[in-house]
Amino acid sequence: MAQTQPKRRTVDANASKDPSIIRLLDALKASLGPHAFDIVDHWKSDLFAVGIACPNNHGVLAYMSTYGQPDGRYSVSLELPPQPGDDAPYTDAGKYEVQGIEALSEVIRRHFQRGNRPQGLPNNSAHTAPVQIQRTLATEHTLVRKLRLAALRDAPDAFGETLNDAMERPDEYWIELTDSLAKKHAMFTATVEGAVRGSVFGIRDDRNPNGGRLGGMWVDSAYRRRGLGLALLEAVVDWATSQGFDAVRLWVPVHSPRAKSLYLKASFKPTGITSVAESTSPFEIEEMILTLPSA
Ligand SMILES: CC(C)(COP(=O)(O)OP(=O)(O)OC[C@H]1O[C@@H](n2cnc3c(N)ncnc32)[C@H](O)[C@@H]1OP(=O)(O)O)[C@@H](O)C(=O)NCCC(=O)NCCS
Repeated sequence: MAQTQPKRRTVDANASKDPSIIRLLDALKASLGPHAFDIVDHWKSDLFAVGIACPNNHGVLAYMSTYGQPDGRYSVSLELPPQPGDDAPYTDAGKYEVQGIEALSEVIRRHFQRGNRPQGLPNNSAHTAPVQIQRTLATEHTLVRKLRLAALRDAPDAFGETLNDAMERPDEYWIELTDSLAKKHAMFTATVEGAVRGSVFGIRDDRNPNGGRLGGMWVDSAYRRRGLGLALLEAVVDWATSQGFDAVRLWVPVHSPRAKSLYLKASFKPTGITSVAESTSPFEIEEMILTLPSA
């Protein structure tokens, strides 16, 4: 038997919403907090949809619809402010079908972090230069080598590789790695004031074909606490989402609370799995996971 769809009604701007939307807004307030969003409903006439925006930046918006959805399932379209020079009123940041308030809250929480940190930088930072996130190209093996060596020199206790090991690798290694980062995996750089200040890898997870991994996260120590780590992390999450992955996993050294708090801030959760990384001396690492909404 064909499923009956609710009739999509168009009414005047003051009409109240369908009860499914009222319930949805109440549940989001309970989950995210009463001041986590502003209702900016540009679609008043659509009773089965509502828009909410980041209180610090109304251009960072989520448009949610319950129309034709079974109870507890939501369609959500994310929007960001237009790019400079772009005529479009907004930038499309993806559309998702989400099951349950918890998953929806997660999508919105992560999206609104962008509004709290325009262009990846914190609102409360004295530093105002914009950060540019770029994916490395197959030809950029010199840059990839330079960044990896800089990360290992600067943070020798953060990665499962020593500076000496990396320095001894032949050119062919970097050429092959860079090629696979451009084609199979991904590497993103953060440029501020004309120079690269940080980088991160997005890796296809051989053990979880539907999953991705984040690795090699590093920000130049002179540019930390300005949102670069978060902006790089978002680039990997966006890449993983575009690949259709269901989760992003990573290893974090247990001795690095700053790295762990970065990942916690981006809604990663510990999986409870630990291991040991081999570097100059072995150190304990723990796994964290971010579950992605299904596209
Ligand atoms: C971890 C690292 C990548 C963070 O980069 P960053 O650009 O400073 O991070 P952000 O500015 O985006 O910080 C985002 C959030 O992470 C947390 N965080 C970052 N550095 C922190 C620190 N030193 N102390 C406490 N929390 C910290 C905070 O919650 C911060 O948000 P806030 O500034 O609003 O409080 C950087 O410190 C680094 O490169 N460390 C050495 C290498 C390393 O440990 N890599 C991780 C391997 S798993």
